[in-house]
Amino acid sequence: MNLKDSKSKLVFSELSDFKKIAEIDIEKINQAQDLEEWKIKYLGRKSFLTNVLRDIKNYDISERPAIGSEANKIRKFLGNLFEEKQNIIKNNQQSSLGAFDYSLSGRIPNIGRLHPVTQTIREVCSAFSSLGFQIQEGPEVEWDLYNFDLLNIPKNHPARDMWDTLWIDEEEIEGKKMLLRTHTSPMQARIMEKNDPPIRVVIPGKCYRYEATDSTHEWHFNQIEGLAIDTNLNFTDLKGTLYDFARKIFGSERKIRFRCDYFPFVEPGVDMSIDWNNDWIEILGAGMVHPKVLESVGYDPEKYSGFAFGVGVERIAMIRHGIDDIRHFYGNDMRFLSQF
Ligand code: DAH
Repeated sequence: MNLKDSKSKLVFSELSDFKKIAEIDIEKINQAQDLEEWKIKYLGRKSFLTNVLRDIKNYDISERPAIGSEANKIRKFLGNLFEEKQNIIKNNQQSSLGAFDYSLSGRIPNIGRLHPVTQTIREVCSAFSSLGFQIQEGPEVEWDLYNFDLLNIPKNHPARDMWDTLWIDEEEIEGKKMLLRTHTSPMQARIMEKNDPPIRVVIPGKCYRYEATDSTHEWHFNQIEGLAIDTNLNFTDLKGTLYDFARKIFGSERKIRFRCDYFPFVEPGVDMSIDWNNDWIEILGAGMVHPKVLESVGYDPEKYSGFAFGVGVERIAMIRHGIDDIRHFYGNDMRFLSQF
């Protein structure tokens, strides 16, 4: 083996070490300046790689093509590594600029709030809760049994016409029909069925009616039902409770009027109005729970008595905020909603 031969053997292993070290070195780099230095060291004019190619004539003539091709392969490989790294550094710089650009003015977050109807529901419920009423909720899809029959409104009774009903388009199940509840009153029977007196409860919730909409009517709206049952409740308890509620919501100066009204599930029945723009506006129906309703849930009407009421939530919100059209509540117009 002559001198040139052994030199050729050595250069292959040196090239391979050189490549490995260059790779390890570039791994750690994350600054453009360091990358430039890396390029000079491994691909520059004085680099080992350039030397090998320049001095190729020092190697055995038969080995020159192999050495040349190996060295060029490595040069290409390192050139690619360099470009990749360059891109990474550039991208990092750009994204860190974006994330930390303190000169940009901040975005003001949109803070949400409760819908005015929800606010009213909460205020009314808390007025009753301070009088000792519990708060419950019930199903919006109801049986006609609870919505009508158990409230002393039997099938084919003309009083059913007071509530234009959205029926669920389903076969009758064992003679029972489903509907979207037309009022929150069906919860009276559901609660009495499951509990013994004394009962004091308010039930807020959505109701639905098959009605054309106008400034005071929506096909869906909210009510708050109230029910109190005990051994000795009478009409003064009903009046006292509703007066107290009205004072809490509208202030002590507000005038209130009770009038006789008819609802099949109370006897006597009344409606309550408050003064508004030199006129009266009705905000709820109420009355002493009808003995037939007590009987239908298995209460003894000789032993127990009570009163019930149903408050129109949107009406109250309209009066409190001076809103002239109920449809504003459900138009999803931020210009309207963000005022509350
Ligand atoms: N449920 C009645 C309606 O929607 C309102 C009502 C009247 C509820 C009298 C009552 C009541 O509890 O006693 O028109």
